[in-house]
Amino acid sequence: MRIAFAGAGAIGCHYGSKLVQAGFDVILLARGRHLAVMQSAGLRHESEGECKQIKVKTISDAGQLNSCQVVVLSCKMSSLNDMLNLIQHHISPSALLLTLQNGVEAPDMVAQVFPDHAIAAGSAFIGVRLEQPGHVIHSAAGGVRMGLWQQGSGEQYLLPLIRAFQHAEVPARQDDDPEAMLWRKLLWNCGFNAITAITRRYARDIATGTETLAIARQAMEEAVTIAKLCGIAIDEQDIVKHIDVTLAMGPVKTSMWQDIEAGRNTEVEYINGYVVRKADELKVPVPANRLLTSLVNMK
Ligand SMILES: NC(=O)c1ccc[n+]([C@@H]2O[C@H](COP(=O)([O-])OP(=O)(O)OC[C@H]3O[C@@H](n4cnc5c(N)ncnc54)[C@H](OP(=O)(O)O)[C@@H]3O)[C@@H](O)[C@H]2O)c1
Repeated sequence: MRIAFAGAGAIGCHYGSKLVQAGFDVILLARGRHLAVMQSAGLRHESEGECKQIKVKTISDAGQLNSCQVVVLSCKMSSLNDMLNLIQHHISPSALLLTLQNGVEAPDMVAQVFPDHAIAAGSAFIGVRLEQPGHVIHSAAGGVRMGLWQQGSGEQYLLPLIRAFQHAEVPARQDDDPEAMLWRKLLWNCGFNAITAITRRYARDIATGTETLAIARQAMEEAVTIAKLCGIAIDEQDIVKHIDVTLAMGPVKTSMWQDIEAGRNTEVEYINGYVVRKADELKVPVPANRLLTSLVNMK
């Protein structure tokens, strides 16, 4: 089974490297200086106190994806449309496409371009960043969950893919309700990602402060309201669990915080901004998510 990561940055290089080290056939679609460094020197991968220089197969030409049984979409939401256009005519009809983006929209975007392919939705529970071109640092957690979103002949690769991750010492498991899985992750991101980016304080600090926790809780409650109206099986208990987990978290810089520091666009429009868009359609007020979206967009 050949596995490709399309848009191999932090997430793609981390999981790709773990699979390569476990002996799997992996190719990384990348670009720019990051691609050039990996081609000349390999991938520098720091994880769990170890730093390794890994020889990786990289490509810049999407045409080479047609030999892959699994294509993991590992770019950000902001580049997903362009990525789908790039790979549209290069994916084997019997391949499985897996999304790993934050937010809840990626699998449907993929399904629009690939209506007959098997699609799985994934959630990555990890802290990993591209420190510089060709250099990835994994700093927290690392698990991945995935579930079938759309049927197609490539669905036969879902279980082998999960086993490959497990063999590569990545905690991986199947989720039978991938829509709720994505919303549950969205919930945490609505509550904590934007606030940490605005305040430059760790999520645990936000959960410890009475006033800041009240804002995070309100943003999550609004997201649960919208989810329920959309028929998604999440509820207030998920908020309680997220707060408990956050109180026990280490000092992890969230993705929006990292993006703002690096002067990049954030994914807020796909997180709090998504809740606002859905709420507007449903004519439900979501003031906390609206405020967080606009504050992050001002940065
Ligand atoms: N990092 C984490 O800890 C983490 C945790 C959970 C979930 N996630 C989610 O995972 C997704 C990916 O995040 P990430 O942190 O891995 O982002 P990232 O480090 O920016 O990696 C994305 C990579 O895709 C590349 N790319 C985009 N379009 C491309 C194209 N057309 N051709 C070739 N390469 C292309 C980007 O290159 P350029 O830089 O040149 O654009 C970048 O190297 C996001 O939705 C994020 O929310 C991340």
